[in-house]
Amino acid sequence: MSLYEMRQSYKLGRLEEKDIAADPMVQFRIWLGEAIEGPLPDWVEANAMTLSTSDGQGGVTSRIVLLKGLDDDKFWFYTNYQSHKAGQIRSNPNVSLCFLWPHVQRQVRIEGTAAQASRDQSVRYFRSRPRDSQLGALVSQQSAVVDSRDVLEKRLAELKKRYADKEIPCPEDWGGYCITPGRFEFWQGRESRLHDRLCYRKQDSRWILQRLSP
Ligand SMILES: Cc1cc2nc3c(=O)[nH]c(=O)nc-3n(C[C@H](O)[C@H](O)[C@H](O)COP(=O)(O)O)c2cc1C
Repeated sequence: MSLYEMRQSYKLGRLEEKDIAADPMVQFRIWLGEAIEGPLPDWVEANAMTLSTSDGQGGVTSRIVLLKGLDDDKFWFYTNYQSHKAGQIRSNPNVSLCFLWPHVQRQVRIEGTAAQASRDQSVRYFRSRPRDSQLGALVSQQSAVVDSRDVLEKRLAELKKRYADKEIPCPEDWGGYCITPGRFEFWQGRESRLHDRLCYRKQDSRWILQRLSP
């Protein structure tokens, strides 16, 4: 394998000012719909997004999380409130999201601020999850060092027994975050690396659209 030789040419689409929605959330829904449209291999998770957080002192981390809801102006995901990401969000709510949809040669970048969901909403979502995922959330002190995998498997077996015929409670330190965006970039791959980049910035509650050089 030669990394030097690996390259794709991007010819599947174009993004022009005359075709893009005035509201970036509307545009996002259109592109998400097109990313999800089949037939897609099972392994494509079009709602997977890279979430980047920083602690405000120079430390920056990124990881994938799943988009689990979209409001008129908010992106929702769920996680553990004691995790590394949650600690960073507490000290600095400014975050960024990045979606990569390689099958349509598109990327969407979002910058915004994160806030915790209400307990009610977190519990509602938790209850909609499969039991295995609920138990996993109970087992995992996400981001903490664990002595071995065995420790996790044993805890899982105990909890399975304990809650065999019972409702599994949503852990207090587990729940949602919503991100309110202040900036969007819609990126469509084009030939000769002259990609389309249309960017929305919020100014006095209006969205300003600008084209960026690729
Ligand atoms: C496809 C995929 C989806 C994931 N979805 C989530 C998610 O929705 N919530 C979550 O907390 N972690 C999710 N993870 C795990 C995170 O990437 C990460 O390992 C975990 O949240 C711990 O991150 P932290 O230590 O930076 O807080 C997902 C990972 C992958 C690869």
